[in-house]
Amino acid sequence: MDSSKYKLFLKKINRFHLTKIGLYHIMKESKTEELIMKVIQVDNPIEGGKVAFDILKEKLENGAKTLGLATGSSPLEFYQQIVESDLDFSSLTSVNLDEYVGLDGDNPQSYRYFMQENLFNKKPFKESFLPRGDKDHAEEEVERYNQILADHPVDLQILGIGRNGHIGFNEPGTPFDSQTHLVDLDQSTIEANARFFDKIEDVPTQAISMGIKNILDAKSILLFAYGQSKAEAIAGTVEGPVTESLPASSLQNHDDVIIIADAEALSLLKK
Ligand code: GLP
Repeated sequence: MDSSKYKLFLKKINRFHLTKIGLYHIMKESKTEELIMKVIQVDNPIEGGKVAFDILKEKLENGAKTLGLATGSSPLEFYQQIVESDLDFSSLTSVNLDEYVGLDGDNPQSYRYFMQENLFNKKPFKESFLPRGDKDHAEEEVERYNQILADHPVDLQILGIGRNGHIGFNEPGTPFDSQTHLVDLDQSTIEANARFFDKIEDVPTQAISMGIKNILDAKSILLFAYGQSKAEAIAGTVEGPVTESLPASSLQNHDDVIIIADAEALSLLKK
């Protein structure tokens, strides 16, 4: 893989700080103190998965022990890279972002099932936590999960992004100081996620999600975004005002965020 062809933007809030082509690790050592976000443009999700895997390896070499994981199509190639690698994950812990309420873990649409199928069955971790989507005990689950997060601080948090700018299932309007909570899903999210279900009526209307504060507590954050449908959300995330109406814009408050995205997802950035 020739990573010298990646386009890497170092972004200061609301404007480009520096545009350069180069290797991720070289850029990391460039000691640009004001940099807020790194944006790595890749050709496609396969390349994105490989870049992310390199970043993960570096974090592991530097002692990362706990990964925050996400579902959705965007991180799939990254998980594939992990599965194909000879790295041993048996001393690592994972905590997942979210889970639908009302689907048990055997349901193929549950996020637990997704994680088992795409990662855990092939690359077992020491322990892997996900919220439990049990309808009758959601409030207890929220408490339990916040404790899990307190006990297992995340070193590297993986994120996708919703078309409306949600991260995890933190929909527009979620306070930035939120912890794990029960969410009523936006109609737009239900419609976007209906592609994974037989019919839209089958899509759960609620979820349990880490809050935005939990996400921002991670030491480092890696967000994937592919395709035109994410362009508006990415423009707001990187260049827009920090506002609760675009949950991912909260990432501007974090000092170690990397966005891996294709040209379509970056197409609305002002260059
Ligand atoms: C869901 C998940 C998010 C994910 C988003 C985007 O709503 N809760 O964590 O980021 O979908 O999914 P995709 O990567 O398939 O576009």
